[in-house]
Amino acid sequence: MSTTQNLKERLASARTTLAAAGQSHVLAYANELTEPQLADLLSQIESVDWPEVTRLIQSHVKNTPKFKLPQKLDPAPWYPNDPGLKLREKYQKALALGRQLIRRGKVAAFTVAGGQGTRLGWAGPKGTYAATPIRGMSLFGCMAEYIRKTQTKYNTIIPWYIMTSPVNDAATRAFFKDNQYFGLAGENVMFFPQAMMPAISMVGADTGKVLMDGKGQIALSPNGHGGSLKALYTSGAIADMKKRGIEQISYTQVDNPIVRVVDPLFIGLHALDGCEMSSKMLPKAYPKEKLGNFCIVDGKMTVIEYSDLPDALAEERTADGELRFRAGSIALHAIRVDFVESLNLKGDFGLEFHRAEKKVPYLDAQGKRVIPTANNAVKLETFVFDALPLTKKSIIYETDRVDEFAPIKNADATGPEPSVDSPITAKRGQTERAGRWLEQMGVPVARDAQGRVDAVIEISHLTATEPQDLYGVKLPLEVKRGDRVLL
Ligand code: UD1
Repeated sequence: MSTTQNLKERLASARTTLAAAGQSHVLAYANELTEPQLADLLSQIESVDWPEVTRLIQSHVKNTPKFKLPQKLDPAPWYPNDPGLKLREKYQKALALGRQLIRRGKVAAFTVAGGQGTRLGWAGPKGTYAATPIRGMSLFGCMAEYIRKTQTKYNTIIPWYIMTSPVNDAATRAFFKDNQYFGLAGENVMFFPQAMMPAISMVGADTGKVLMDGKGQIALSPNGHGGSLKALYTSGAIADMKKRGIEQISYTQVDNPIVRVVDPLFIGLHALDGCEMSSKMLPKAYPKEKLGNFCIVDGKMTVIEYSDLPDALAEERTADGELRFRAGSIALHAIRVDFVESLNLKGDFGLEFHRAEKKVPYLDAQGKRVIPTANNAVKLETFVFDALPLTKKSIIYETDRVDEFAPIKNADATGPEPSVDSPITAKRGQTERAGRWLEQMGVPVARDAQGRVDAVIEISHLTATEPQDLYGVKLPLEVKRGDRVLL
């Protein structure tokens, strides 16, 4: 069959599908497109699950799903950062198990990097953003160095799977190639794109219409990090893991330069307790901090979004004055390979879609591209933590903010105060962690009146992923005010 003939058939089939979905306008400009442009548009149309989109338009665009607060809702228990006497032995056992799993090549790293990073205002994939305070090492580079160091320490291979999206897949692959995979073996770094969802108009008579970004371009965006659980399977990543003998997936987001990409204690606790999917938490700094809340609903581990937790519950205190709902999700998980496989083998495991109202550029009825100034569209995403209630067993481990959380989410502010979770705060966070590690090694570090490190310090993950790695490293005798120290 000739390409033209093939295109005609695909076009006819797309017309039928779109008509059934009430979205025929998607092909309104088909006649004006060149053959390659039309082929591209048809591929986009074929990648969308139109019956599902039609169903979601009813439930999530024309209607807004109402969150029902469960009748019985309790804070989830967690393993504390400090084991104390009671848990010391268990943590030692867990650490030994986690180390053994890593050494035996049973653990893979997995980074979700399909997001669009719009808040940061960085045009490239977020992982390519220069994150560290002295070298300007990229977020991907920080993680790659972490993996390299861990591989050397444990004399093992940690395969790294990176979920991209069709929008940033090519740029991500090119970045790794240009940087020689940061010293990792290329055959151990795998990329796969997640699926996309169309943005849907929520304005007047157009409500429910899929938006077009151009005459041959649907306004598509990634379908949320929940899409990773399906994409891991459909991409062949799970099959590749099984071939390599991988049992546990260490799941991280792309935005945090100090994340423990593979954490033996956390993986060990998760494996020791026989969990399918586990999470790390941070105690919320204040009641309405924008972190999901780990709760137990009907005996199941569940994350309730900060926006859904009523103020009264968010502010509730225990007898010792602590927040009752304290465990905030920072989107770090340990997931068993066979859990992801079993979800997919069951067919549709149906993570719930969440509705987000956004400004999405679109083609108007005259075919003119409009950049909206107010929210005009609904984007639909699933979240990975919505798989937690599908587990039989799931634990939470409390990590430490200075040691593990310095994300880059928002652009730097123009005023004197830094915006939260911005490049400036992330660089300060990296310096704080480095300062703490040096002090633990007996190096005096200058601090200001607020107790913050009064210098800039960067410790490459190739040098240390934990303070013990600094034994044998030539350290400064002290870090003075204004020093810039690179280790
Ligand atoms: C997320 C969590 C929040 C947590 C915070 C910690 C959600 C809804 N919220 O917020 O509870 O406290 O991280 O840092 O998850 N991504 C994809 N594909 C997508 C969408 C996102 O791969 O379709 C990836 C991004 O590349 C990024 C991560 O998921 O690595 C987080 O995405 P983002 O939407 O920025 O979540 P946050 O608002 O930061």
